[in-house]
Amino acid sequence: MKKILLLNGPNLNLLGTRQPEIYGHTTLADVERDAVALGTELGVEVVCKQSNYEGQLVDWIQEARGQMAGIVINPAAYTHTSVAILDALNMFEGPVIEIHISDIHTREAFRQHSYVSYRADASVIGQGVDGYGIALRDIVGRL
Ligand code: DQA
Repeated sequence: MKKILLLNGPNLNLLGTRQPEIYGHTTLADVERDAVALGTELGVEVVCKQSNYEGQLVDWIQEARGQMAGIVINPAAYTHTSVAILDALNMFEGPVIEIHISDIHTREAFRQHSYVSYRADASVIGQGVDGYGIALRDIVGRL
């Protein structure tokens, strides 16, 4: 069975309690459980990882080469700062979908630029946590 890596970046471990007026009340555990269940429905194994550390995310993206069919990533704040994550994604051969829970284009100016968008095959933005399911369906359609 093909595997999809679902990667979440810094502070998303606190989803559900973190600024719920922006990110909602759903926890990361809920998001990951739903993603795994949807993956089963779509015929893929979803492997979920979260880290607050840029280097750890880079390591996981490197390890995904040859192992994972695609990557769904919410790089969180590293979206706007990390050339290292972009470079790691540029070495990955499969499809990459970027997802943001909030609408980064209507928030602070510094959130409106995404390094990951240079590599992402598609971006799902501002759909709340439903965006993870949209991203998953999209990536499976590309396999
Ligand atoms: C986010 C948006 C980022 O700007 C922010 O730093 C996050 C979450 C989102 O999902 O809306 O941590 O990626």
